[in-house]
Amino acid sequence: YSLRSLNTFGIDAKAANYLRVASAQQLQAALADPALAALPRLVLGGGSNLLLTGDFPGLVLHIAIQGRKVLEGTATHHHVRAAAGENWHQFVQWTLSHGLDGLENLSLIPGTVGAAPIQNIGAYGAETKDFFHSLTAYDPASGALLEMSAAHCRFGYRDSVFKQEAQRGLIIVDVTFALPRAWQANLRYAELAQALAEQGVDAPSAQQVADAVIAVRRRKLPDPADIGNAGSFFKNPVVSGAQCERLLEQFPALVHHRQADGSEKLAAGWLIDQCGWKGRSLGAAGVYEKQALVLVNRGGASGADVQRLAQAIQADVEARFGVRLEPEPVFV
Ligand code: EPU
Repeated sequence: YSLRSLNTFGIDAKAANYLRVASAQQLQAALADPALAALPRLVLGGGSNLLLTGDFPGLVLHIAIQGRKVLEGTATHHHVRAAAGENWHQFVQWTLSHGLDGLENLSLIPGTVGAAPIQNIGAYGAETKDFFHSLTAYDPASGALLEMSAAHCRFGYRDSVFKQEAQRGLIIVDVTFALPRAWQANLRYAELAQALAEQGVDAPSAQQVADAVIAVRRRKLPDPADIGNAGSFFKNPVVSGAQCERLLEQFPALVHHRQADGSEKLAAGWLIDQCGWKGRSLGAAGVYEKQALVLVNRGGASGADVQRLAQAIQADVEARFGVRLEPEPVFV
């Protein structure tokens, strides 16, 4: 079974077995079958944070569970639940069209609702965890559906318990978001504030913020429908304050953001750009022209091609800055 249309990198790897599940019941029934349950498993939503490095010998479970609804909520928050297989961006648009504001900064992120908590998707000064209420996960070990709070999920920067304990194999079925009734635009991200200011908008609606985010993303990030990619290929590295100071002596233009604990987050895109990689290619894998943090499939790239390019970039950045870049997508 070709996985090409099931990963946004457009890598043409194959799976030995493929099953699309459209409900939690179907998921439970499938994994109650000992033959299916025994296979190595790859759970896929939109396949937007994934690098397939070869064919997959086991079972690809494609989570296509649909549905979204507004729950009762609390005095302070609207609660809205969406099934794991819902397209993330369409879900965000749907919330906005129902007057449920909050997720607008996360517009146009590829992938599904179920994938959002796994890497705590974030952009333009917001993260999933800021609007997270709870989720339902299927635990293959017990066959039970678990209700998980934010504390259970252990969210971090592009991280959660689902990445930390991948071997446990929890499968997200639906996610409930808590959106503040007292909404305020989040314009902490300078480029977003600037884009709105340039339009002469000073008190933007959530939809106007969404439109500005969409415009900024379209300007800088390749649409996976046109050019295969998985968004940022590396995480922005976090270094100590002391290491950042040493780097600044040598590289005064270093882009860095101080964290609450005194550590510093560096812009991986800047580091890669400085090494001269922007716009370059190694075989069919390349570095996007407008954003060095994004690796792209220029047509027919294999996962190994992308890995080779990633390793060359890591080696150059480490040699020049003494900083090790960690990939953001999951390698399979
Ligand atoms: N920069 C360069 N050259 C480049 C790319 C960036 O010099 O080729 C500099 C920029 O000038 C800027 C800094 O690096 O000063 C940061 O760049 P940008 O604002 O574009 O954001 P980013 O750090 O590259 C992160 C997220 C994105 C998210 C944006 C906006 C990570 C790994 N990436 O990118 O998330 O959309 O901020 O919030 O945290 C993703 O995770 O897939 C993703 C796209």
